[in-house]
Amino acid sequence: MSIKTKNIPISLPVTGEEEWQAVKEPLFNGWLTSGPMVNAFEKEFAQIHGVSHAIAVTSATTALHLSLIALNIKPGDEVIVPAFTWISTANVVEYCGAKVIFCDIDINTFNIDIDKLASLINPNTKAIIAVHLFGLCADIDAIKNIAPTIPIIEDAACAAGATYKDRYAGSLGNLGCFSFHPRKSITTGEGGMITTNDANIAERISMLRNHGASISEEQRHHGPKPFILPDFNILGFNYRMTDLQGAVGLVQIKKLKKFIAERKRWADYYINCLSNIDWIETPHITNDYGHGWQSFVTLIDEKKSPGSRNVIMENLQAKGISTRPGTHAVHMLNYYKDKYNLKDNDFEVARQANDYSMAIPLHNRMGKEDFEYVINAIKNL
Ligand SMILES: Cc1ncc(COP(=O)(O)O)c(C=O)c1O
Repeated sequence: MSIKTKNIPISLPVTGEEEWQAVKEPLFNGWLTSGPMVNAFEKEFAQIHGVSHAIAVTSATTALHLSLIALNIKPGDEVIVPAFTWISTANVVEYCGAKVIFCDIDINTFNIDIDKLASLINPNTKAIIAVHLFGLCADIDAIKNIAPTIPIIEDAACAAGATYKDRYAGSLGNLGCFSFHPRKSITTGEGGMITTNDANIAERISMLRNHGASISEEQRHHGPKPFILPDFNILGFNYRMTDLQGAVGLVQIKKLKKFIAERKRWADYYINCLSNIDWIETPHITNDYGHGWQSFVTLIDEKKSPGSRNVIMENLQAKGISTRPGTHAVHMLNYYKDKYNLKDNDFEVARQANDYSMAIPLHNRMGKEDFEYVINAIKNL
């Protein structure tokens, strides 16, 4: 029987005393829904990402949903989505009654394959969701060259602090959508952010997240007539972030650059130490890209590896090392498979990424000893 000496989770957020102190303020002052803490978090987030507006919501999924609504996506419209991503990138298109058009990915980046994009565009194409998977930005300039007039929503769920040609994720397309789920570099438990440089879109999204109300709760309560309810001119949702989350976010955002710098150092270390194992391919790095390192995702070459990808994951788990597939190929999931009558090989590269990708632990609570342990365990498989 093997004895587990280690337990290295795939991800573990760095939260503690500072976040604990920060949540006390809204708890004591009683302003628990979106208020001053959320406002301050939004300002800081916008400043760091080089955009004029950041609007906090409850998750990246609701951020993506509101972004599509802000762009008036409706039944009959088509939205292009990479086939290898988290399911919600596609689900939000379904929420709008529009049609998901999957695009295959590039195995070197796990992002949308630029060469396969042009043939998918037609007069019904009303948006492209460019996913910055695992923290690596999609090649936005290439997408804009192919589709200069089609709005781009960046699914930057994994890409807080990531850069592309010295510009930040969230400032590259028409809208950017971020996640603060605990598997991301910074967290608020659950939570999301929408970024944009378009003041009209920002205003519309601020209303959409708050039931469609013409002014926010805070504006009403602190305004001259708090007793008058706002107007509701559009159909909205309750996608408001709480001030408890805002307080945590404000502490976390200030640590983002430090977290990414640490992750980058250890990602480089992994790449270096794993380079002479011929069955594991580490992420490709290119000069123009500042990787956000939300995850460190490898590819297993099953022709050379000491077992299938799943057997390798099982063996590493037995040694106390958590791994995960990078994410899933959405066209292979039953809802999409059935609704759109899709076969696994329709998006062959996404299928390969689905079957052979393996994320290994990379987070800011790991130390040298943990990285050594993972590297040695892989070498000794
Ligand atoms: C690429 C991508 N998009 C969207 C999401 C959804 O984020 P959230 O959990 O904040 O809704 C995730 C979460 O893992 C993701 O990885």
